[in-house]
Amino acid sequence: MAPASRASLLLGLMIVAVVAPVAIAQFGNIIVSGTVPCSTSTTTVTAATPVFPNATVLLQCGSNVISSAITNINGVFTMLVNPVDSLLTLLNSCKLVIPTPLSTCNTSLPSTGILQSPMQLLSHGLLGGILGVIVNVVPTLFTFVQNLG
Ligand SMILES: *[C@@H]1O[C@H](CO)[C@@H](O)[C@H](O)[C@H]1NC(C)=O
Ligand SMILES: *[C@@H]1O[C@H](CO)[C@@H](O)[C@H](O)[C@H]1NC(C)=O
Repeated sequence: MAPASRASLLLGLMIVAVVAPVAIAQFGNIIVSGTVPCSTSTTTVTAATPVFPNATVLLQCGSNVISSAITNINGVFTMLVNPVDSLLTLLNSCKLVIPTPLSTCNTSLPSTGILQSPMQLLSHGLLGGILGVIVNVVPTLFTFVQNLG
């Protein structure tokens, strides 16, 4: 390879590296989906975990709610998110909050307090984001938080 074309290849790679994060924000559709457990324990949701149908799911960034969804009969929700600042902002600064009381899905559970979870990228999703296809973001782990006052 001639030195000149090697230099332009290198330049091309550098441009890709710089432009890629912008591509995630502008062209990647972000889908946030998961299953809400009907439980105060913080175990991973498995087939044996009771699920929370009809629960409101809020995608909250700081004090702003940027999207919401309702779980189906299997406790599953899906929301399409207009890319906010970036995927990294979504993962670092936002969380999923379930304002519907757990007593709605099981009368033995508390009627105050909320479930919430940070989010993570499903494996291999980042490449999809760079290529402009769908990025799948999922809850990390729902934990039960008592209302303070
Ligand atoms: C889900 O919520 C709707 C509206 O609040 C209500 O009419 C419906 O009965 C609920 N379904 C279940 C299974 O809780
Ligand atoms: C309701 O919650 C109680 C307390 O956690 C649990 O023992 C029970 O199995 C739950 N019921 C259902 C139907 O999930």
